[in-house]
Amino acid sequence: MSSLDTTNNDAPQDPQLVDNPLYVRRKERAEADKPPSRGSPLGAVAASRRPGTNSRKELADSILAEDGDLVAGRFGTVWYKPVTVCGIDLKLEPLQPSIGTVVHGMDLATDLDNPEVVTFVRQLWLQRRVIAFRGQEHLTRQQMVQFVERFGIVGMPFGEKDHVPNSPYDLNQQVRDNDIPNLLVLPSDATVPNIASGWHADATWQKKPPMASVLICREAPPVGGDTCFCDCYSMWEGLSKATKERVANLKAVHIGSVGHQMDGKTPVSVHPVPRTHPETGQTSLYVQQGFVKKFADEHNIPQDEQRALLREMKSQEGRPEFTCRVKWEPGTIAMWDNRCVLHSGSGDYWPHRRFMERLTILDADESRRVPYYRPT
Ligand code: SIN
Repeated sequence: MSSLDTTNNDAPQDPQLVDNPLYVRRKERAEADKPPSRGSPLGAVAASRRPGTNSRKELADSILAEDGDLVAGRFGTVWYKPVTVCGIDLKLEPLQPSIGTVVHGMDLATDLDNPEVVTFVRQLWLQRRVIAFRGQEHLTRQQMVQFVERFGIVGMPFGEKDHVPNSPYDLNQQVRDNDIPNLLVLPSDATVPNIASGWHADATWQKKPPMASVLICREAPPVGGDTCFCDCYSMWEGLSKATKERVANLKAVHIGSVGHQMDGKTPVSVHPVPRTHPETGQTSLYVQQGFVKKFADEHNIPQDEQRALLREMKSQEGRPEFTCRVKWEPGTIAMWDNRCVLHSGSGDYWPHRRFMERLTILDADESRRVPYYRPT
């Protein structure tokens, strides 16, 4: 699949979508020539690029015409750290001071056979919170599973087996790989655009949320569609001393969305507001716009105070200094630590296509899976 295939290709990215009721229902909007809803960033960004255009076709055609003559190129100076690990020459490109490193020079299909290389990658990941690798398009889905198995247990699409969503409202759950039921497929095309935008860590509504997630890009828009990551250690550090003291012993309620329902049941879990990372010992702020709407009832916090505290904590999300973004190319793969990182897909690329595949990783040490806080 080409990253620059900007033809307005109407075929869904997976044949399973052709007759899928959710896909077909959403397609009706496209057939009625209505632009994507401005309630979603995909629609808002498109509208901002062509204000006043009310025909979906006209909007798509004119954006595709503007982006259609983009060519791939490389500019400027990239700073990186050269390191040699077990005879493999690597270039480590930091994305931002506290978060994100792109590792150049590794083949994930073969280089991790050496346990010392796995140890190096794990240490780097713990330190940098998010790591990405370019040029891994040769990795099959099965090899992605093998990659994940180097770092923990392969989870179901949303982590633990206790709650496996089967919601008809989530497009990502409509494509299944019967050989790899753990895989979550994230399609997005011009007819039915789709993106998880909004800061969240994956499946924190589980009692034991997944330790990590791995995302590979199979089809990338030529511009937009980055995934943004936010460092929750810095979010914690950035709170005022008074707020840290006030929330230190509080728990927050994490509620899944309708797309996370299993047999119609919405998942809910209660977790500490500050979270001790079980491997680094650092404290992260474990509250996020996506799933947290209130504190645990046992605290009896008045509504006004709840709102003020949540607002203050949420104002840390997405601060430029705490974030990095991964720009995708087909074959780029990223692994992030859900215990100390939030992420948000950037819903700005419609009408281009984007196709991603995700696996979650459970901590191999089961005793570390339930979030906890131990003040230092
Ligand atoms: C996710 O929320 O796991 C996927 C994010 C993305 O598609 O960029």
